[in-house]
Amino acid sequence: MKPLDLALTRRALGLASFMAAVFGRQLRAQPLHDAPEPAPVSPPRQSIRIELSVNGDPYDLSLDPRTTLLDALRDHLGFTGTKKGCDHGQCGACTVLVNGARVNSCLSLAVARDGDEIVTVEGLADHGRLHPLQEAFVREDGFQCGYCTPGQLCSAIGMLDEIEHDVPSAVTANLTTGPQVTAEEVRERMSGNICRCSAYPNIVAAILTVHQAQAASPQAPRGQTPNRPMP
Ligand code: FES
Ligand code: FES
Repeated sequence: MKPLDLALTRRALGLASFMAAVFGRQLRAQPLHDAPEPAPVSPPRQSIRIELSVNGDPYDLSLDPRTTLLDALRDHLGFTGTKKGCDHGQCGACTVLVNGARVNSCLSLAVARDGDEIVTVEGLADHGRLHPLQEAFVREDGFQCGYCTPGQLCSAIGMLDEIEHDVPSAVTANLTTGPQVTAEEVRERMSGNICRCSAYPNIVAAILTVHQAQAASPQAPRGQTPNRPMP
C-alpha cells in the first residue's frame, strides 16, 4: 500500500470513529419517549383486618392477604407450638382445629378464617392439666423429637370427633352402621400426619387408649383417663 493510500485509510477510520462517537452519544442521549413506565415488581397490597379467636382469646389482626393461617399464628401471634414442616400440605405438622375441624394451617389463608375459632396445641391443656391425649402420648411414648406432635394431637382430636359424627373414611367397612374406632381407622385417618421418627404404633396406641377410656365412661370429663403406669 502506498503512503498516500495509508494516510487516507487512517483518516477515513478516524472520521468514522469520530462520527460514531458523536452521533452514538446523541442517540444514547435521546429520551425514550415511547418506553412504557416500568411496572412495580411487587405492587403494594392493602392489609386486611380480621378477628380470630385463638384458644378462647380474641385477636385483631391487620394482615397481608397472602398470609397463611400458620404464619399468622406463629409470626403474628406467637403461637409457635404449631409447627411448619413442609409448608405444602403434605406433613400435617401445622394441623390446628378450626371451629372444631382439623385443618392444615399452611394451606389456609388467614383472611379466610375471619371470625373463626382456632385451637392450637397451646390450648389443649386445661388450667395446667394436660389433655387426655397429651397424657396418653406421654404414657404410650408417642413421640421422639416431638416436632410432629402438636399436629398429631390436634389431628387426633379432630379425627375422633369425625368418627363420633359418623364421617366415613376409605377403610370404613359399613357405611350404614358408621365407622368404629379401630386401629385400621386410626391409621387411615391419621395418614396425613407424618412422623419422621416413626412413632406410629405408639401414636395409634395412645389414641386408642383415650377412646377406650372415654367409651368406658362417656359421662366423665374429657380430662379423666385411666392413670396407667409409665412404660
Ligand atoms: S406444614 Fe402444613 S402440612 Fe406440612
Ligand atoms: S416425633 Fe419426631 S417427627 Fe414425630
